[in-house]
Amino acid sequence: MYRSRLEGKLDDITLEFLSSISDDSVISEYDILGSQAHTLMLLENEIVTRQEAVKILGALENLKKFDFSKKSDAEDIHELIESLVIKKAGKEAGGKMHTARSRNDQVALDIRMRIRDDINTVCFCLNQTIETLVDLAEKNQDAIMPLYTHMQQAQVGLFSHFLLAYADALFRDLDRFYVAYGRVNESPLGAGPVGGTSIPIDRQSTAKMLGFKGLVENSIDATTSRDFVAEYLGNSAILMTNLSRMAEDFIIWSTSEFSFIDLSDRFTSTSSVMPQKKNPDVLELIRGKTSQVIGYQTAVLSNLKGLPSGYNRDLQQVKVSIWPTSKIVISSLLVVNSLLKTLKVNENVMRDAIEGGYSISLDIAESLVRRGTPFRNAHRIVGNLVQIAARSGRPLLALSPNEVKSVIQDGEIDALELHRIIQSATPEHSLELRKSRGSAGKHEQQRMIEERKRKVKAYMTGTSRRTTEVRESFGLLGKTVASLIRNSVK
Ligand code: ARG
Repeated sequence: MYRSRLEGKLDDITLEFLSSISDDSVISEYDILGSQAHTLMLLENEIVTRQEAVKILGALENLKKFDFSKKSDAEDIHELIESLVIKKAGKEAGGKMHTARSRNDQVALDIRMRIRDDINTVCFCLNQTIETLVDLAEKNQDAIMPLYTHMQQAQVGLFSHFLLAYADALFRDLDRFYVAYGRVNESPLGAGPVGGTSIPIDRQSTAKMLGFKGLVENSIDATTSRDFVAEYLGNSAILMTNLSRMAEDFIIWSTSEFSFIDLSDRFTSTSSVMPQKKNPDVLELIRGKTSQVIGYQTAVLSNLKGLPSGYNRDLQQVKVSIWPTSKIVISSLLVVNSLLKTLKVNENVMRDAIEGGYSISLDIAESLVRRGTPFRNAHRIVGNLVQIAARSGRPLLALSPNEVKSVIQDGEIDALELHRIIQSATPEHSLELRKSRGSAGKHEQQRMIEERKRKVKAYMTGTSRRTTEVRESFGLLGKTVASLIRNSVK
């Protein structure tokens, strides 16, 4: 449709190579809405007549039912929609739809509208998953388990503490998306190909009709920039990395060697040959799909880094990374949320793991510190005790008073007192004493849970408000279009 300056037609292979139509069906609805807002604005500013506007709007309205996944020889969705409008509304009216805009501001608009919706969906799903984690934490405040560093038992802790740690990481992800929304929610429409237009358009008006908070003002910036895409994909990659860590923890804890948790059969797969198998495939795919999302962000950044200002066709490839990322992120959150809801926690096994290790050591050392022993001495004393106990595979509790005495230097502490401290060092008691803010301590769990619950509510309210704002603007736009069409028929 656009090739008047060029000779000849594109051959099939070249057209297929050039065309983005197969990646564009995801933005067809936004392209139609954007075109309707643009047409209404052209009417408001007397750039098209009422009759012309009605013809264009009617044709666009019809296209809402069109199947854009069908094969077509258009270069992209913008060309396809414009040609269909011209076909239906005629050259005289339809040919005016593209006045004072370009595919360059149009495609930026469509991508922003799509990502804006996707961010709201992601925020909603994130909120739900966090809520499930906090609920689960509330139920598991007595599930004592070892905490690990280097995958070795480190300190005595609680399963609720782990769950709240995942929740806090996801809160940061949520906030990253939530804040990015503001940068996405600006309209590039009316920037034209790169330098604006002499036609008296009103960019604020289309922005308002499409529910945007403001404009991407500079027309070069509006048509060139895809940093908001990189940001969206970056936020997605970080989120997936956080989910991947949780998935990895759960994979380890669901092994028969650990058995801290059992995954529901609904989230596991079996083997075609080994009948006993219950594999954590869903969690493995969270790990696997994370790599893909990291790849998508890398693809976009490396696309952008070499481009000069102004639209370049390379930008077409940026879209290809967005849609599958949204799909992976949203489906991962939905699946993880359901998996968490059906997770079985084996409290006794977790508790027994403490008995088999020496994660209580730091708590014993801190008991000594509280009675005045310098920490370095306390560290040495308990280290020596663990050495003796580990040699014979016994817990610290089983050490005899004589063995305890053997590690004391220069009467630094009374042997019987030390023996008594060791005897009284239970995981339960340790967690009572663990008071520092954000620690595995019992009191801290309750405080963190309550605070997180409030935070979930606040984000949920904000996300619903934004979703409603977008929906209401589309509703209003639809009503305006419908009443114009209706009144012209009368
Ligand atoms: N299909 C193009 C894309 O997705 C649309 C913009 C084309 N603009 C141009 N000047 N060739 O990026």
